[in-house]
Amino acid sequence: MRGIILAGGAGTRLAPLTKVTSKQLLPLYNKPMIYFPLETLIHAGITEILIIMAPDHAGDFVKLLGSGKDFGCTFSYEVQEKPNGLAQAFLIGENFVDKENVALILGDNFFEDDFINPVRNFKSGALVFASKVPDPERFGVVEFDANNKAVSIEEKPKQPKSPYAVTGLYVYDNTVVQKTKSLKPSARDELEITDLNNLYLKEGTLEVAMVKGKWLDTGTFEALYQATTYVRDKELAKTV
Ligand code: G1P
Repeated sequence: MRGIILAGGAGTRLAPLTKVTSKQLLPLYNKPMIYFPLETLIHAGITEILIIMAPDHAGDFVKLLGSGKDFGCTFSYEVQEKPNGLAQAFLIGENFVDKENVALILGDNFFEDDFINPVRNFKSGALVFASKVPDPERFGVVEFDANNKAVSIEEKPKQPKSPYAVTGLYVYDNTVVQKTKSLKPSARDELEITDLNNLYLKEGTLEVAMVKGKWLDTGTFEALYQATTYVRDKELAKTV
């Protein structure tokens, strides 16, 4: 299994912080934000990792993370010229993915959970992770039937059909690259990860698991603050 960290985007919701650096390099207490999704992949046993960055601060990612040797990994880097959607990661990363399965994690997502078993046991199709949130309209929202089977996924619906957000960790089989090539840009001119997940859903190969423990998308001031506090509390708990 190969891993991609998508650290693109302009981070406009975090301006002016993001005028001087990339959102994914901002601190969550004692570490740059990208360390957290990176550690999530590493703890899941993934060590061949592609980092996709916006052009503006690309050099800072390489300076921070280097070849990957210090992390026991091999890092590759690519630039996403424009924020044309999360699914674009599989077009930019086509050569990197090659013939393998791939996990995509968003560079601004913080997971407390450990994904070693789901990654190790993954064979084919798609596996995504959902988390109950108070504000589902901000996310991809998954609806379940009475047997807990996913029946629909909608991107940022005005009237969410459930409180379950699709989080920023996605595991796909190798058909993901071909599937992405069949996607059309959405109304906001992006290749939507939700459209990709819906292709797997239609095919009957999408599995949705629940995230255990804390999950935060740290792309807003409030979420950034919450994540910072959360990491701080965990760090301080280690010292008592
Ligand atoms: C993206 C996805 C959304 C997902 C979210 C998780 O939203 O489009 O489906 O729930 O990441 O963080 P964005 O953060 O790009 O608005």
